[in-house]
Amino acid sequence: MTLRTLDSLGDLAGRRVFVRCDFNVPLDGDGRITDDGRVRAALPTLKALVAAGAQVVAASHLGRPKGSPDPQYSLAPVAARLGELLGSPVAFATDTVGSAAQGVVDSLENGQVAVLENLRFNAGETSKDDAERRAFAEQLAAFADVMVSDGFGVVHRKQASVYELAELLPSAAGELVAHEVGVLDKLLTSPERPYTVVLGGSKVSDKLGVIDSLLPRVEKLLIGGGMAYTFLAAEGHAIGKSLVETDQIETAKRYIAEAAEKGVELLLPVDSLMAESFSADAGFDNAASDDLEGTSYGSDALGLDIGPATAEQFAAAIRSSKTVFWNGPMGVFEFPAFSGGTKVVAEALTQTDGLTVVGGGDSAAAARTLGFADDQFGHVSTGGGASLEFLEGKKLPGLEVLGWA
Ligand code: 3PG
Repeated sequence: MTLRTLDSLGDLAGRRVFVRCDFNVPLDGDGRITDDGRVRAALPTLKALVAAGAQVVAASHLGRPKGSPDPQYSLAPVAARLGELLGSPVAFATDTVGSAAQGVVDSLENGQVAVLENLRFNAGETSKDDAERRAFAEQLAAFADVMVSDGFGVVHRKQASVYELAELLPSAAGELVAHEVGVLDKLLTSPERPYTVVLGGSKVSDKLGVIDSLLPRVEKLLIGGGMAYTFLAAEGHAIGKSLVETDQIETAKRYIAEAAEKGVELLLPVDSLMAESFSADAGFDNAASDDLEGTSYGSDALGLDIGPATAEQFAAAIRSSKTVFWNGPMGVFEFPAFSGGTKVVAEALTQTDGLTVVGGGDSAAAARTLGFADDQFGHVSTGGGASLEFLEGKKLPGLEVLGWA
């Protein structure tokens, strides 16, 4: 089965369309959006609906409020930014299904867009109780004739606006969801070879599912970031005070053995920047993986970035691949002194003559923080958890309900 797409909804002129977006953007302490990537990612669908003459009701969650209004998670800044990006005013409803929302929806004209307040200000959105979710979805359904699901970042959640609403109304995937699914499905089913996966971030335990799923499908698996030290410990290296998940050392050993058995090249760091402490201005030295405690900081040192030799090896592996998927920074990229490995890896992706895909969440944020633009990569996913769960081969409720199986 394939996804139902926008064209399956027919002529949308004069029809009211509920669009479930993922406007879960980072805000600073003053409520300003620090990365509007997810708002921009919603534009193709919203513009298509505006051009079709639909009356567009856009909705999203932001953060994890506890089922009641919490001003720090208001979508008001998103509505304002969306208006700027669309080049026309966007009405904002100060509640989600109350009288303000009803008024804003009733006054929509063809080709206009309104944004409702945070869906998660309502307990029914994320309730574990099917009937409660359904009751909230029914309230949302009353606002529209059809539903478009375009919040890729949330399709792994069985939540009222993602799942039950798509059952209640004629529904289809928006352009973002259709594009994300197309790219990620290619990574699972028909990647051009050689295929390299680069994983980083702090925890092996966050990546078990994706390693299980992708290890048998790739030529090369590159592991950096904090999670690499669990693998180095599994190989018997002393790692000082670097991050380690001792309960995952046996799992790491199993992956090392499985890679060897399957002929997958597993690249672990050959060197690391070993720091005196976890801070932006910590002293540090480069050390080889078989001597990580050999710097002047001894066994107190912790690895905060892959070293330059590793970065070069990883970059060469990436540049010689036809498909690359990258998820997770190679070091503490928020500290400039320890952002070098992540920068070299990101740059190598931009120099690769093949399909390059950056997983959402931290890796997309890292690439943007380090000055890379999304269009330098083949695809930057808007979903952190969703893209990983898709690549783990899991069934995602928000896609199943759109016909994807
Ligand atoms: C995300 O940021 O990954 C999505 O918006 C989903 O958010 P959630 O993890 O709070 O459901």
